[in-house]
Amino acid sequence: MTKIDLLFATSNKNKVLEIKKVLPKEFNIKSLDDIGLCEEIPENENTIEGNAIFKANYMYKKYNLNVFADDTGLEVDSLNGKPGVHSARYAGISKNSTDNINKLLKKLKNKKNRKARFKTVIALILNSKIYTFEGVVEGIITKKSKGENGFGYDPVFIPRGYTKTFGELSLEEKNSISHRSLAMNKLIDFIS
Ligand code: IMP
Repeated sequence: MTKIDLLFATSNKNKVLEIKKVLPKEFNIKSLDDIGLCEEIPENENTIEGNAIFKANYMYKKYNLNVFADDTGLEVDSLNGKPGVHSARYAGISKNSTDNINKLLKKLKNKKNRKARFKTVIALILNSKIYTFEGVVEGIITKKSKGENGFGYDPVFIPRGYTKTFGELSLEEKNSISHRSLAMNKLIDFIS
């Protein structure tokens, strides 16, 4: 079996765990930690797609390896799509998930419309060409955090058709419907 080596341009252990779970055996994924890099990649673009492309390009230019990067945002309808591309730093530069969630729940206090979606764009650079893949999962924002699983905004997001938050669902359940695995499955189909 020919192995496909790809660098995943992230240091986020949760993202690595999710992606490794959905990958077929022929993929050999290395994260930044796996190859001993601990650099923070800038995320200053105005769109989720722009950030994903920037991150993949940044690593490609430095290390000349086939690489992919993901960028994710939570778009909330009654906040006009915010926090969106600014999801990581919604409550400040420390990128603290509890603070982000608290700010979100405060902004949504008394809002009836709690519809939201996670959007992931994965940018892949393969043999010097760039490709993008998008995954979206619709849902609602809860009034309180629930569940210890996952990361980021998972404890306040209930995917459509479910009664539990991503924070309450298992990794396998989240992966079966999530924005990130939808985008990753498109990448896998493309390469395979
Ligand atoms: P980034 O893609 O790492 O820039 O993530 C942007 C923000 O969304 C961060 O606050 C992450 O913690 C959060 N985030 C990214 N992916 C997920 C997810 O799958 N579930 C919940 N929050 C996420």
